[in-house]
Amino acid sequence: MTVAPILRLENFCKNFALHEQDKVIPSSAQVNLSVYPGRLTALIGPTGSGKSSVLNGIYRTYLTSSGRILYRCAAGEEIDLARADDHDILALRRSEIGFVTQFLHFLPRQKTEDVVAQPLYQQGVDKEEARARARATLEALNLPRRLWSLSPTTFSGGEKQRVNLARGLTARPRLLLLDEPTASLDPRTCQRVVAQIKSLKKANIAMLAIFHQMDLVKQLADEVVELSPAAEGVMGGQP
Ligand SMILES: Nc1ncnc2c1ncn2[C@@H]1O[C@H](COP(=O)(O)OP(=O)(O)O)[C@@H](O)[C@H]1O
Ligand SMILES: [Mg+2]
Repeated sequence: MTVAPILRLENFCKNFALHEQDKVIPSSAQVNLSVYPGRLTALIGPTGSGKSSVLNGIYRTYLTSSGRILYRCAAGEEIDLARADDHDILALRRSEIGFVTQFLHFLPRQKTEDVVAQPLYQQGVDKEEARARARATLEALNLPRRLWSLSPTTFSGGEKQRVNLARGLTARPRLLLLDEPTASLDPRTCQRVVAQIKSLKKANIAMLAIFHQMDLVKQLADEVVELSPAAEGVMGGQP
């Protein structure tokens, strides 16, 4: 059985222009990859090889320098996320594409369970139902119950990371982007995350993920794409 990809990157490139220094910093160079429903594509490569820039390009936190990001929407049409208008991107973020970033900034005074349920509120899910789903994920990721009614602003790194992940996992988007979601978690909690990701695969969710630990790549990846470090100065202005 051949499954059609939900996302295809064709020659994706990202450079950062430092105008004041008249320099261009190459980040991701000529990235080609596909992501499929119910499967996980892992992005690997050394620090600075442009892995996070790929995810930011897809989510449009960064503008793409060149190449195409072809995403097949729930409605069936294919759109190029590199060129789609902001309005369409915001709509997709609300309903179809989730991103667990490396660092999430929490609003002060917002309860953890509301932080986690927020994407569901935005999708119009009933508040009680959304909170129940948020609590189930927090439980699955082993975040102590006494923290659920507090704001994550003062939590430890590992606790914050669990809240951030719980938010992405609870939303159950069609495409989930994960940027080192387990970097500050202990091995037992990592295994709980593995179980959650496996259950998302069963729910036919497509994932593109960067993992700090290679054993997680081995356990979870159906496809592995390796980025090489961008060649220093290749895109540069003056030497
Ligand atoms: N916002 C930015 N402004 C300037 N340079 C950036 C920015 N984000 C990333 N870079 C540069 O792009 C390169 C790739 O970064 P990144 O995508 O974070 O790589 P990785 O996730 O593989 O470590 C690095 O050289 C980094 O310094
Ligand atoms: Mg990174």
